[in-house]
Amino acid sequence: MNQILTDSFGRNIEYLRLSLTDRCDLRCFYCMAEHMIFLPKKDLLSLEELGIVADAFIERGVRKIRLTGGEPLVRKDFLTLVKHLSNHLNAGRIDEIALTTNATQLHKFAKPLKDLGVKRINVSLDSLDPLAFNRITRGGNLTRVLEGIDAGLQAGLKLKINTVALKNDNADDIPNMVAWAHKRAMDMTLIEVMPMGDTGEDRFEQFIPLSEIRDILERRWALKDTAETTGGPARYVQIAETGGRLGFISPLTKNFCAGCNRVRITCTGKLYMCLGHGAHVDLRNAIRVGGSDALDNALDEAMINKPEKHDFEIRKTGNTSGTTRHMSVTGG
Ligand code: 5AD
Ligand code: SF4
Repeated sequence: MNQILTDSFGRNIEYLRLSLTDRCDLRCFYCMAEHMIFLPKKDLLSLEELGIVADAFIERGVRKIRLTGGEPLVRKDFLTLVKHLSNHLNAGRIDEIALTTNATQLHKFAKPLKDLGVKRINVSLDSLDPLAFNRITRGGNLTRVLEGIDAGLQAGLKLKINTVALKNDNADDIPNMVAWAHKRAMDMTLIEVMPMGDTGEDRFEQFIPLSEIRDILERRWALKDTAETTGGPARYVQIAETGGRLGFISPLTKNFCAGCNRVRITCTGKLYMCLGHGAHVDLRNAIRVGGSDALDNALDEAMINKPEKHDFEIRKTGNTSGTTRHMSVTGG
């Protein structure tokens, strides 16, 4: 009982991504449908239940917890959960509390998050052009986001910019974004669009392989591949001219599943063992009905059923192989 979480391919699960809400104040066109129907609030795990779930994972060896969404900062009182996790951090039971945010609310929360021991935050940002940003997010205000980023840097948080490469909306602007991020000592990671959920938009029209972005970047800079990994799916290059690091996450063109160390929990308590598969275990039922033993058993069941790899594919015609779940449900 209470062994370290290891799946049937021998991978240790040390990294938990916990979604606090499927809601978001933006509507990025590759992520959500324009008129997204959100989950009823009563289906959500309470913050206390999210804490109980996190505790169970920490007990079984998880060392890093990332809070995601949707947009985690729009979940009311989310800082109480951060406080709870902060106790684990202070006691040395976990190494890191991380967060992924769109930064629209970061001006309010940067300082409290820093005070609770959060060191690194990933900011999702797909354009520095106010009009393109507004189009991609279906109404978002870039100024607010930039204020959030400034507040984060000012509070002493280490920020990383995550940018989804979009064929018609930001591909040509990415070199400028890299220069901007590196100038502010922020790392940046580029991500290929994944076929997750119907957004009312044609995935093929959005998708551009990162190899093409790399070609665009190499017209301006010398990119030097590095062997470093952060245990995640990104491959990194160093750019001598900017002095910064750039990551590439290419789920469609390079499979990175062999080293997978993570699982994801939705805001309703469904534990997904892989971003690209439907297989999941219901933890909400386990805690509400069965208590802590049932929760532990559910984690064991999940380890047995964690798939070996995702098989995302975007084709011009015919079926696109992906999930019916939106990223905002599973947690980014
Ligand atoms: N493909 C790739 N990235 C996505 N994100 C959301 N939906 C998708 C998708 N379909 C990204 C967001 C954010 C992170 C949480 O996930 O841009 O960076
Ligand atoms: Fe919100 Fe992030 Fe999805 Fe954009 S990508 S709609 S910011 S959850």
